[in-house]
Amino acid sequence: MSYEQYTDKVIEHFMCPANVGSMPNADAEGQCGDPKCGDFLTIYIKVKDNKIEDISFLVFGCVAAIATSSMTTELVKGKTLEEASRLTDADITKALGGLPENKLHCSVLGSTALKNAIAKYYTKPAKSQSIVNQGDESAMKE
Ligand code: FES
Repeated sequence: MSYEQYTDKVIEHFMCPANVGSMPNADAEGQCGDPKCGDFLTIYIKVKDNKIEDISFLVFGCVAAIATSSMTTELVKGKTLEEASRLTDADITKALGGLPENKLHCSVLGSTALKNAIAKYYTKPAKSQSIVNQGDESAMKE
């Protein structure tokens, strides 16, 4: 596949992706892989006041996988978890000015890995423990 088939925005995010790297102090991470092509994405999120304070990614993948991963992080940084969880692969593709037909599936990695990270954030033991502790505290005050 030649570069001419991609929009300038896709090339921009492929050549200089935003928010690349692992995040050792992440509150949660989510993955998504495509078994057909072998591409694999991990998204890391740091959450503060119910908003995505920081986000980064590591991807093993094609030009479109790199560009869509980068765009995913840009679209949801600073958004609430509810807003971010509504991001679709079509939103990511649109923000990049489109993708070739045979590369549309690449944008699914970003939206799915993000949703998985948010789901893990809500279900991780520390959060459950926090809720239990808050319940215990209010019970003690009564
Ligand atoms: S070719 Fe499968 S994610 Fe890009």
